[in-house]
Amino acid sequence: MDKYVINGGNKLSGKIRIESAKNSVLPIIAGSILTNQQVVIKNCPKIKDVYAMLEILSYLGGKWTFEQGDLILNNASLNRYDIPKELASPVRSSVFMLGALLCRFKKAKIHQPGGCNIGKRPIDLHILALEDLGVKTECLGEQIICSAKEIKTNNIYLNYPSVGTTENIILCSVLSKGKTQIFNAAKEPEIVDLMKFLNSMGAKIYGAGTSTILIDGVENLSGTEFTPMFDRIECGTFMLATAITGGEIELSNCNAKNISLLTNKLCNNTCKITINNDIIYIKSGGKPKGFSFATNPYPQFPTDLQAQTMSLLCVSEGVSTITENVFENRFNHVNELVKMGADISVKGKTAIVKGVKRLNGKTVTATDLRGGASLVLAGLNAEGQTTVENVYYIERGYSDFDKKLRSLGADIIKQG
Ligand code: UD1
Repeated sequence: MDKYVINGGNKLSGKIRIESAKNSVLPIIAGSILTNQQVVIKNCPKIKDVYAMLEILSYLGGKWTFEQGDLILNNASLNRYDIPKELASPVRSSVFMLGALLCRFKKAKIHQPGGCNIGKRPIDLHILALEDLGVKTECLGEQIICSAKEIKTNNIYLNYPSVGTTENIILCSVLSKGKTQIFNAAKEPEIVDLMKFLNSMGAKIYGAGTSTILIDGVENLSGTEFTPMFDRIECGTFMLATAITGGEIELSNCNAKNISLLTNKLCNNTCKITINNDIIYIKSGGKPKGFSFATNPYPQFPTDLQAQTMSLLCVSEGVSTITENVFENRFNHVNELVKMGADISVKGKTAIVKGVKRLNGKTVTATDLRGGASLVLAGLNAEGQTTVENVYYIERGYSDFDKKLRSLGADIIKQG
């Protein structure tokens, strides 16, 4: 198992370009099976979750290749609608294939999807929504078997604005005869990106980014060349890495609007942040001050930045509280941070963090993607050497994380 070895204490400085968003690219790859023509995803990040989706496509009969950072997909020869356990269970995003396969074949047979160990992560909302679209669903052990004579149109009310469910309904309905509406839809910017991608292929989808989305079915979709939005979570992670090391960096290919809650928190926290078109410049202003926040669906504070923000609060002045409202088991990183000298106590879904002067280097283990990133940030701050084991999890969502940090002056190496 690969690990990162970090000698803490270096201030980050320099420039990096933020990648296209993992959470945009994954449903977009599923959406690529809705046409027989070529789809090009510009600047596609080469992360493990993307390769896991591409392995699924290869199994289904699709073709793909990377050309200088662009992903070229051609799914004209797709000839299967089943996804076995070994391909479905490593990633949560395999669930997007459910809606896309149903749209294309009116049939889908997939093993229960997996993904990070951050809670139960059921797919009941996906299944209920597909049933609302006239899909017959059956669970045989861990297999989900779905079929429909045709995908019906409907008004679908979500009792929780689930990101993946909203995307699955869109993927399933885009070629239906008539109009489908989603009420209480998730409003994440990556859903707007999925709408833009499908509309660039000829779909008629309106309202993504608001709580009501209208999908007006079209007969077919054509190929496209699409540049996904920036990865707001990668951007936030590097901003927090800068704040925790007392550094100063410039991030390009960003849309500051999509990450304003974090930038506001950091501005009130002694950091200086300047925004110029797609560039975010961040300079730490010394010892950070603690603050409190609660994670919730967009536009509120993203759960995917909770762990990395916690690392900063561990070495901030005063007492901070963090309430995790999205996932029920997303504090796996707490025990590891405590090993490094952090003062954190968890009561239900709230963590109370009392700032300490500095963390201490230790051997710690990543158990999920963002929690793993938080341990790297802690290691950048810590006195002495930190070893983060199981970096496989981190590489699911960050491309070249160690190389990028090294280019910014961090002392971090990857060892096999
Ligand atoms: C997506 C993101 C993930 C992010 C999350 C919340 C992708 C590929 N992943 O995940 O990075 O952390 O949004 O912003 O875009 N739930 C159910 N039943 C369901 C579906 C969801 O109970 O059928 C629950 C989940 O267990 C979780 C909450 O709803 O507690 C939010 O899940 P959801 O918004 O669906 O997140 P994902 O699409 O899995």
